[in-house]
Amino acid sequence: MLVKNKRYKTIWLDDDERVKIIDQRYLPHKFIIETISTTKDMAKAIKDMHLRGAGLIGAAAGYGVYLSAQENLSRKISVEKYKDYLLKDAEMLKKTRPTAVNLEYALKRQINNINTTGSKEELIKKIRQEAIDIAREDELSCKKIGEYGSKIIEEISRKKDGKVVNILTHCNAGWLAFVDYGTATSPIYEAYRKGIKVHVWVDETRPRNQGARLTAWELGNHGIDHTIIADNVGGYLMQKGMVDMVIVGSDRTTFTGDVANKIGTYLKALAAYDNQVPFYSALPSSTIDWEIRDGVNEIPIEERGGEEVKYIQGWLDGEVKKVLLTPKKSKAKNYAFDVTPSKYITGIITEKGVCSADEKSIKKMFDK
Ligand code: MRU
Repeated sequence: MLVKNKRYKTIWLDDDERVKIIDQRYLPHKFIIETISTTKDMAKAIKDMHLRGAGLIGAAAGYGVYLSAQENLSRKISVEKYKDYLLKDAEMLKKTRPTAVNLEYALKRQINNINTTGSKEELIKKIRQEAIDIAREDELSCKKIGEYGSKIIEEISRKKDGKVVNILTHCNAGWLAFVDYGTATSPIYEAYRKGIKVHVWVDETRPRNQGARLTAWELGNHGIDHTIIADNVGGYLMQKGMVDMVIVGSDRTTFTGDVANKIGTYLKALAAYDNQVPFYSALPSSTIDWEIRDGVNEIPIEERGGEEVKYIQGWLDGEVKKVLLTPKKSKAKNYAFDVTPSKYITGIITEKGVCSADEKSIKKMFDK
């Protein structure tokens, strides 16, 4: 997508076969490209959120295994030992963040290559291609989500006689969270491209403020009208008829339609339900967990350090700085995701089309 009118993706291989990423910790203030050369550094980049977002985490894990395949190639070891090193590194990557299922999805594909390929040379080639494929599929799925989702926006616009469609989103399920296009934002970009008038309410999304920092930056780069709101404002806006629809992303979706997304999503879904505002989750099928039925009780929820709640980060004197917001000794809890039960979800927007958030419709959509 566009940064100062130049096209970027969030992750790519450079000419030296190293992985380049946009370091999101500095956005929106500084645009920094980071080179990742080792699997260990990739694991750190995922855990410490240099990069983030379900689809991008999956793509990064795919490339992380490729870095491991390169690093271990110079060792004078048998192919079995070589595979052991790669599997160990895959395990290290898996431990970085628990909620987004894309991480497991990408690693399963790479582990399958490790377990089924003969020589080291053949293996490294396969792993490289798989990493590229995972990233490419993510990008194409997001593009398709945009095409299907924009039709819903178009329909609302038609019902409003072409007046502005107000869309509320939470966190950043934009192109920065995937390889390109995004999920929640992709229908918005596509609707805007088609000339539909849109305005986006951007939840700030405490504690890391992915909405205020990243979604607002993305939308601004594309010239899309948007307004940042504090996390508590959405309910009020819905009561006043100022939201036409909600679109959020998903980090893990059960085959029954429950959606795990950034903490606070559930409260927006409740407000939307109470005010008859359509609530959609846009997601590629790589976020569907086909083994989990009950999202609230079975999806692992990441708990991050309380420091993220107690300190706030911003731009001062040309630098990103952190300041303490709370009494120094107060405890803080930092649950990073919550689960919205399917009954509050109007529909899911996927690369295959839009369907109801229920087992029958989801299985039908994906031929399961
Ligand atoms: O903790 P993050 O920033 O990796 O959170 C994940 C997300 O980006 C959001 O939950 C998003 O809305 C889901 S779609 C990637």
